[in-house]
Amino acid sequence: MQNWTLTKLAGHCGARLSGGSLQELDAQTLDVVTGALFEHGVICLPDQHLTPEAHTHLARALGDIVINRFFTPVPDHPHIAEVRTKPDQGVVIGGTWHTDHSYDAEPAAISILSARELPPFGGDTHFASQSAALQVLSPGLREMLGAMWAWHSDASFAGSALEMNQDPDAYHGGVRQPVVIRHPVTGAAALYVNGDFTTHFDGWSVADSAPLLAHLYAVCTQPILTCRVAWRPGMVVLWDNRLVQHYATADYAGHARLMHRITVAGSTLAPWAEDISVLRGGK
Ligand code: SIN
Repeated sequence: MQNWTLTKLAGHCGARLSGGSLQELDAQTLDVVTGALFEHGVICLPDQHLTPEAHTHLARALGDIVINRFFTPVPDHPHIAEVRTKPDQGVVIGGTWHTDHSYDAEPAAISILSARELPPFGGDTHFASQSAALQVLSPGLREMLGAMWAWHSDASFAGSALEMNQDPDAYHGGVRQPVVIRHPVTGAAALYVNGDFTTHFDGWSVADSAPLLAHLYAVCTQPILTCRVAWRPGMVVLWDNRLVQHYATADYAGHARLMHRITVAGSTLAPWAEDISVLRGGK
């Protein structure tokens, strides 16, 4: 029996789980981790120092692993993606608000990031609650969005300044996702559009979509909805891509940073409400 203690990081998302080890993946630990993850959207676990094998074991306990087709894999561990910043690099992977793999027909459920090499300062990761974001919107807008779908594409990786797989076969074209999704496990409602991968609303042109998307991005990433994870050596962070967006802060110029990421597969996303009138409720 492990002695896990949970401390909230912020009002709308994020929690720290301490006092236990992910090396011992007993049923109680898995329950604590998944329960906290689905409730808080993001959990950070200090002092874990996971080996690639233990990282993989944790991911497999949560679901199937989905290989990111754009990132460089960790040598000898093709299912682990390197999230690497070299000291001379100006842009970083994930340095804008986004949702991992929203461009896949069955988008990733969970991402698990393990700190391998940290800069002497900076490099924090921010997360924003997309279920709280929905509640900030006025009921009329929420109701309209509840009936809408949006297109997501991996095209933003093309010509990236980052070292990424540029093989034309890696690009899969657009997929349509509900704008307000129902969390497949808890049933929670969350906004599901992001600046890196959403291209336009279904049935709307890119130009017509842009002002409303810009408004939603401003609302859904505002500081009151966020938590900030300050990385420490050996820390592991899990987030639920159906509940939060994230942003990697590129404020450590001249220094290296290396994280290992495993992404756990998700399922097709359903709209939160078949009957959109339920979205009229609330504030
Ligand atoms: C990512 O977007 O998956 C990377 C986040 C980070 O490096 O902090």
